Amino acid sequence: MKAILLTKHGKPAALKISDVPAPQPKANQVRVKIETIGLNYAEIQSRKGLYRWAPKLPYILGMEAYGEIEAVGPGAEHRQIGEKVIVGAQYGSYAEYIVVPEAQALPAIDFYSPEENAAFAVNYLTAWVCLVKMARMQPTDRVLIQAAAGGVGTAAVQLAKRFGCTVYGTAGNDDKIERLYQLNIDHAVNYRRRDFEQYIRAQTNGQGVDVVLEVVGGEVYKKSVNLLAPFGRVVVAGFAALDLQKWNPVSWWKTWRAIPRASISQMAVNSYGVMASHLGYQLEDTPRLLNTWQELTAFVQTHQIRPVVGATFSFDDIAAAHQLMESRQSYGKIVIKIGE
Ligand SMILES: NC(=O)c1ccc[n+]([C@@H]2O[C@H](COP(=O)([O-])OP(=O)(O)OC[C@H]3O[C@@H](n4cnc5c(N)ncnc54)[C@H](OP(=O)(O)O)[C@@H]3O)[C@@H](O)[C@H]2O)c1
Repeated sequence: MKAILLTKHGKPAALKISDVPAPQPKANQVRVKIETIGLNYAEIQSRKGLYRWAPKLPYILGMEAYGEIEAVGPGAEHRQIGEKVIVGAQYGSYAEYIVVPEAQALPAIDFYSPEENAAFAVNYLTAWVCLVKMARMQPTDRVLIQAAAGGVGTAAVQLAKRFGCTVYGTAGNDDKIERLYQLNIDHAVNYRRRDFEQYIRAQTNGQGVDVVLEVVGGEVYKKSVNLLAPFGRVVVAGFAALDLQKWNPVSWWKTWRAIPRASISQMAVNSYGVMASHLGYQLEDTPRLLNTWQELTAFVQTHQIRPVVGATFSFDDIAAAHQLMESRQSYGKIVIKIGE
């Protein structure tokens, strides 16, 4: 089968198509013929060798995809050949076929297109876990989403809006700001034009926000904490600003400085909470994953929420897709179509 087998870390050019044997399902596993792949920022970090959940080289990149079950291993009783599924994994989805435990092949959402199905799992599960499970978002909350125009960001904006919250978001260009208003965000700010902390403080009459979903780190994390109202909660889910370069000691220092840190004494003085979340733990805990999946899919069904697919690429163009994501110009989710 065709697959992006990562043999060395590096720039997007490291993403080359190889011919490798298709994996065979073992006990309780299923094999999925992939139609569409969702791209994630963690795969940029994996490609660079900066993602701590990645396996040792060589491995096939990719964390999510949509396709059809075409083989089942012994004991895999809950899924059937021919079923359309959304697959979540730590690696392996940049390929024509993937094998996963059957619990990680979740029923596709029937009113979504193949592109929307590939764009759903990682972003919406992340946003749901951070906002609903951890921050315990309430309809009366003012919620700030960092990198709001990205994959996780657009998912979080949609979920928080449908929850009834007042939603604020940051993004790095005016085009993204305009698109965020098309998603019905209440206030979006281009942080390159104005200081987002001052802007949001002014928009909230000096009160700040109740919940922040933070995925950048560095100054963005510090300002996010500054903006928390008493009893506020910030959930850290990413570190996009961290850019560790192996042979550049200055980058080690910058990275160390940009890592978010929490002070319990400050939390006590100002009465707020700091949390952090990684989706990988959901994949390792099947009952928890299925429970969260049921809640989330019921919510998107009720509110007819559809993933924002900002760009699609062919499998041959996966390096260009990585370049677009790294350029910080992408909007919503980038999806790869196999067979085009
Ligand atoms: N914890 C988890 O389980 C989990 C799961 C999925 C994703 N994440 C994290 O969530 C974040 C978003 O992921 P995604 O896949 O949806 O990607 P994405 O949002 O589509 O892309 C990243 C965006 O981050 C923003 N950004 C801000 N500062 C940046 C910087 N210094 N360098 C690069 N980008 C910067 C950029 O938008 P602007 O320039 O417009 O701000 C960029 O477009 C990532 O940090 C990712 O690691 C975490």
